[in-house]
Amino acid sequence: MKIIVCESAHEVALKAYEVFKNQITVKPQSILGLATGSSPILLYKELIQGYIRKEISFKDVITFNLDEYVGMDISHPQSYAYFMKHYLFNHVDINVDNTHIPNGLAENLDLECAQYHQALSERGVDLQLLGIGSNGHIGFNEPHTTFESSVHVVKLKDSTRNDNAIFFQSIEEVPTHALSMGIQDILKSKKIVLLACGKKKAEAIKAMILGPIDESCPGSILQTHNDVTLILDEEAASLLKQK
Ligand code: F6R
Repeated sequence: MKIIVCESAHEVALKAYEVFKNQITVKPQSILGLATGSSPILLYKELIQGYIRKEISFKDVITFNLDEYVGMDISHPQSYAYFMKHYLFNHVDINVDNTHIPNGLAENLDLECAQYHQALSERGVDLQLLGIGSNGHIGFNEPHTTFESSVHVVKLKDSTRNDNAIFFQSIEEVPTHALSMGIQDILKSKKIVLLACGKKKAEAIKAMILGPIDESCPGSILQTHNDVTLILDEEAASLLKQK
């Protein structure tokens, strides 16, 4: 794993921007795996600025998002479909037909998972963006999800629902289930970039990098991938220095 420690969240976003700019420049038809949550927001702002400066174009880019809540209308501001439009897609020249997000409203969720997995497998992700949960989850692969998983329906842990409650009026409003790429889908990406900022992520980062490769910390599986870059702020990296 390559680890880059930055002085601020802004610097994290700038470093990540360079990785994405390079990917899209070298391969304009890149297939990007995208994430939601607070971690990628500053990066998405940089990508929009890069598009405005004409440094990059999303015209031929194809995207697959990691996950989506189950049962949430895409017009709901907390749905990941809404998030992606709000923070990125509405502001760049991407073709919406080239953007993919699991459909959490599908009548048959297992079929939706199978079809999303099939679409991912046919294309193959060039560059996957990840955040990490304070409990070590990647995508919505919660601790003890099998490392053999592909796209699946997830019951969200209370810790994850609590973390995400800041985006809702109350904890009761946070959905209980989500659809998520599985660990195997994530590992198939050619390159992975994981962003983490803040003290709340320090334990998960430590377990992911220094701990055993174990399903209790889903992020630890990234130790087995040959092209992972972690871009962290000093707080997220703070427990790496302690011996
Ligand atoms: C989001 C996702 C999650 C988040 C993680 C961190 O699509 O898959 O794994 O990356 O929960 O969330 P933030 O960035 O809000 O701390």
